[in-house]
Amino acid sequence: MDPKPAPPNPAHPKPTSAARTSLSHIMTVVDTNLLGTVHGGVIMKLVDDVAGAVAQRHSGGPAVTAAMDGMTFLHPVRVGDLVHAHAQVNWAGKSSMEVGVRVLAEPWDRADVPQTKVATAYLVFVAVNEDGSPRAVPPVTPETEEDDRRLREAEIRRQHRLARRDEILASRVPKL
Ligand SMILES: CC(C)(COP(=O)(O)OP(=O)(O)OC[C@H]1O[C@@H](n2cnc3c(N)ncnc32)[C@H](O)[C@@H]1OP(=O)(O)O)[C@@H](O)C(=O)NCCC(=O)NCCS
Repeated sequence: MDPKPAPPNPAHPKPTSAARTSLSHIMTVVDTNLLGTVHGGVIMKLVDDVAGAVAQRHSGGPAVTAAMDGMTFLHPVRVGDLVHAHAQVNWAGKSSMEVGVRVLAEPWDRADVPQTKVATAYLVFVAVNEDGSPRAVPPVTPETEEDDRRLREAEIRRQHRLARRDEILASRVPKL
């Protein structure tokens, strides 16, 4: 048997394109809610799956979902739509990564109909060791102006996430 490949050196930056991933799924009747359109949870699962694949690729091993925020549903998705989820690492810290996901839909049998953006989401993944403790991830190197913009905006979201968490925790301290 081939020896297990060595994990990537977490000190070496990786370009955004190295981990960019897309997943597609044709929506069927089992994916619907009571209104007959696609259940939001089905889209969320697709989003978590594609973001997890990106985090695994960027970090070179297991990564867990730590947070999912900014999930926005823009348009309903219908049975028969071919849904594409495109994801990339927007930002990488010491052990965490923000993965951005864009979800597009098109009728499966109408190649002439343009794809519609139906949802977007930002997820935080943390790379973990076998014991579940955080491990180091490589920095991400943006390659385009769009990647630069996503990195800047991810840093703003990270500051807001940490500030919100700290503020909530501080509010729980019993006041003297
Ligand atoms: C995610 C997890 C590993 C973090 O462990 P932890 O001991 O709290 O780790 P730390 O406090 O050292 O934080 C590790 C990193 O995650 C970030 N982080 C942790 N929770 C976060 C949150 N809610 N939002 C944003 N970032 C978060 C920290 O800022 C830190 O980032 P950095 O290393 O890049 O600076 C742990 O909370 C866990 O196992 N959660 C359950 C995950 C899970 O089961 N997911 C669903 C199935 S995949």
